This record gives sequence, C-alpha cells and structure tokens, in this order.
Amino acid sequence: MTAADHSLPSFAVTTPLYYVNGVPHVGSAYTTMAVDALTRYQSLRGRPCLMITGTDEHGQKIERTALERGLSPQDHCDEIAASYQDLWQRLNIQYDRFSRTTAPRHQAIVEAFYQRVENQGDIYLGQQKGYYCVGCEEFKEERDLLENQHCPLHPNQKAEWRDEENYFFRLSKYQEQLEAYYAEHPEFIQPDSRRNEVLSFVSQGLQDFSISRVNLDWGFPVPSNPKHTIYVWFDALLGYVTALLEPEDEPTLENALSKWWPINLHVIGKDILRFHAVYWPAMLMSAGLPLPGRVFGHGFLTKEGRKMGKSQGNTLDPVALVDEFGADAVRYYFLKEIEFGRDGDFGRTRFINTLNADLANDLGNLVNRTLNMAKRYCQQVVPEIGVLPEDHILKQMGTGLGDRVATAYDNLAFSAACTSALALAQASNKFLDQEAPWTRYKEGNQQAVEEIIYAVLESVRLVAYVLSPIVPTLSTRIYQQLGFELNLSDRATLASQVPYAIHAQWGVLSAHQALQNPTPVFPKIEED
Ligand code: MSP
Repeated sequence: MTAADHSLPSFAVTTPLYYVNGVPHVGSAYTTMAVDALTRYQSLRGRPCLMITGTDEHGQKIERTALERGLSPQDHCDEIAASYQDLWQRLNIQYDRFSRTTAPRHQAIVEAFYQRVENQGDIYLGQQKGYYCVGCEEFKEERDLLENQHCPLHPNQKAEWRDEENYFFRLSKYQEQLEAYYAEHPEFIQPDSRRNEVLSFVSQGLQDFSISRVNLDWGFPVPSNPKHTIYVWFDALLGYVTALLEPEDEPTLENALSKWWPINLHVIGKDILRFHAVYWPAMLMSAGLPLPGRVFGHGFLTKEGRKMGKSQGNTLDPVALVDEFGADAVRYYFLKEIEFGRDGDFGRTRFINTLNADLANDLGNLVNRTLNMAKRYCQQVVPEIGVLPEDHILKQMGTGLGDRVATAYDNLAFSAACTSALALAQASNKFLDQEAPWTRYKEGNQQAVEEIIYAVLESVRLVAYVLSPIVPTLSTRIYQQLGFELNLSDRATLASQVPYAIHAQWGVLSAHQALQNPTPVFPKIEED
C-alpha cells in the first residue's frame, strides 16, 4: 500500500472559514474536531485527502473590532488567525490548508470569479434597503428581527438600517435549477432536517442578494467599480477555492480548480446553511462549475443548558479546556456525547463523568488489567492460540466492528462510531469477569487462559484502532503498549502504516509479540 491509494477517489473537506472578530470559541473547535476526525478516517481508508480550514477576515464586523482595539485591521487579523492556528495545534488538528481571505492570492481568485459571474449577466446595480445585522453580516427581513430591530442571533446588537446602492447577484434566476439539483441529489444537504429547511426556504421564492457594500474599506474592491467593496460572504465562500491552490501555483481559477474540485464536503453550523446550500451553489452554477458533493449542517452547542455567547458571558474557552484535560478528552466528549447534526450541551460534570466512564474505566482500565494478566500468565507476550470459534462472543462482535464503524464515519455519525467501539470494550470487561482467567490459571488450564487473554487483547487493539480518528494519541499509546511500533496519530503515514483494510479486521495481533509494561493510558480525572 502506498501512503495514499490513488485508485481511490480523493476526499477534499472544509470547515467554515472562521470570523476573526475574537479568539476561537468552542463552537469553532467543534466543527474542526469533527472534520479532522473524518479526514483521519478517510486517510486510514487510503483516500488522498485535503482538509481545509482558515479564517474569514474581511467585512464590517472585523473592521470595527480592529478599530475598537486600536489596531490596523490587518494586524488584528494576523493576531487572531495565529490564535486559531495555535488552538488547532493543541487540539491535534492536522489540516492541509489554512485559507486566509486577506491573502493576496485570494484577491486574484475572487476577481476572476466575479468576472465570470458578471460575464454571465448575473450582476447588476440596484438599490438595497433593509436592516443589516453586522454580527451576521447579513440583511435581515424585518419579520426575522426581535423588537427594536435586534437580531435574535446577536441580541445585544441593533440591526442597522441601510439604503444604498449595491451590486446584486441574480439568485432568482437559479431558483428552478437549484430545485432540480436538490431533487436529483438528495444527499446534497444533510441531515434531512436541514435539507427540509432549505427546500422550504427556496420554495418561498428566491430573491437576488447584494454582493457589494459602500462605505466599507476592509475588503476587495469590485473590479469594475472600486467605490464598492465586495460583500464579505461572496469573498469568503471563494476562500474554499483559493485553498485548493498548491503553494507554488499562479493564483488562477484554472489552477485552483484543476486537482481537488469539486470539494466533497462542506461541514458547517446550522446558522450558515443558506449561504452554503443556496447562495454558494447558485454562484457556482453561474460560474459554470460543478457543485460540491455534500453540505452537512451540525447543531449548536450550549453550556450547562444555556446558549453560549459572549453577550451571555458564558463562553467556553477551548484552550483552557485542552490545557486542563488534553486534546483526546475534548475531542472525545464532543464527538461522542453529541449526536452530530443535533444541538448538544457541555456540562463540566457530564464531561468528567463521560471521560472517566468510557476512556479511563471501560477502555483504559481494560487495557491495564489485561496487560497485567498477560505479564503474569503469558510471559508478557501475545499468546499463541489456535483459531477461535466463529461464535466466540468477542470475535463475533469484533469481526463486524470495522464495517459498522465505517458506516458511521461515512455518515458523520461520530457518536455511533464511539458507541459501537465502546460496546466491544464493555463486552470485553464482562467477558473477563465471567471467564475469570485468574481462576483458570490456578486450575492449571493454561490454554483457556491464553485464549481469553488473546481475545481481550485483540478486542482492545480493535477498539483503539477504530477510535483513532477521534482519540489519536490515546490509540497510539494503546498500540504501543500492545507492542506495535506504529503511530496512529500522524495522518501522513496512516494509510501506509495502519490501513483500515487490515487493522479494522479481527485477528491482527500476532503470537509472541512482546507487550510493554502497563502504564495507565487515560488516568481517571479526580475533581476536587
Ligand atoms: N465566517 C463565517 C463562515 C464563512 S465560511 C466561507 C462564519 N464564521 S463564524 O466564526 O461566525 O462561525 C463559524 C462556525 O462556528 C459556524 O459554522 C457556526 O455555526 C459555528 N458556531 C458558532 N457558534 C456555535 C455554537 N455555539 N455551537 C456550534 N457551532 C457554532 O460564520
């Protein structure tokens, strides 16, 4: 197997490009952890992968934030973009591209794309009247605002009345084409609840939307009329395209689109669904480009049951969380405890209980006790056994696990992937208690002891392997204690070192492999 099997279809996936109006919060970390886990899984499968993340740096919101801080917008953006990169490193996120919308090469892509859409006759000058929420960077219908024209997503900010000349994109022209596309590609918008939301929105009739602003400097000028600045969303969505350029490429659309386009999957939060599932495909249709494979809109996180936000004063700092508990713990909690697609909550007690129950106890303690027994009863090597019967409880569960987990990952059902894996660890604990190898040992039944220990060691290995996209460091630690000199954490070498086709199967541990001295792989969290 080569590092990536080029006979398999490639996989390009994006997180949103995050606004740099403040340091990253846990909402941005959530999407990025999910996309990282998915990309690791696809790499294990041997698909050539490209994971894109980055920052969205233009627009009024950023310009004002920089001004309030007394910094130039660019200095402000540089600082916040660096804090995202720092968080990704702490969370063990292995992205391939970090797309910044203030990059000069991005301007070339935006201009070329704008030109294509303009040549298509899809841009015209008009008058925009309406309420603008700077927090959302979006015009709002009056009926969507709270009393006093406050936006429900940014209740501490008043939407601002605008009456100005803007360039418009002819979204209305694409109504039928979009509807036909949704019908022909039911998988395009996921999960189903989001798809229904989009279908209902589009069926009400699409209106053209403005793609330029006046009285705003922080952005790219409209090529044909530099008094206007290109609307931040028009610019930001194209950040996905710019990200596809190789570092040495000339920044042309042709180069950007030559290798990885169309992107397979955009993972986003539900609040930016319309931009990705309606506006973006219409823009691409206008430019004559194929559409991305899927748009998946996940839910929102709350903290201790309350909506999280700066205005609520209850944000959850992901850096503090990782510093306290480590990357694997944070990744595991959010991907296991919240069904991807639905809203979910962070509660400190629940967080600690989950990690202790699943990783410290069900998995970590299992590894530890089994390695101790192997040391005592089997000379600290993987015992040599004959073929276990097909109806062996652990073998049976383990044999189907690779496929079950693959289906879950393919559907972004991270929680289901964790639950399936954990079920094998739980069954292994029960199996050990029932089979009591310590008693068999005293009885002198060495063959039974070895069969029991082999089955549990192999189960532990399999659980660690299939969980590795989510908890790469923990899985590597387990593999190493099982005597493998393999790294399940470095995405670049996954396909060559630990391919799914082999390691997600039952029966990979080979007889006589030397085991390491057991040391706790995930210590229990003690809360004062
Ligand atoms: N800049 C745009 C995206 C442009 S993509 C071309 C943007 N940025 S954002 O920083 O405001 O939001 C980024 C993502 O974080 C969105 O997908 C949003 O849904 C997500 N979240 C923000 N708060 C969240 C929670 N409380 N919970 C989960 N995700 C949340 O929008």
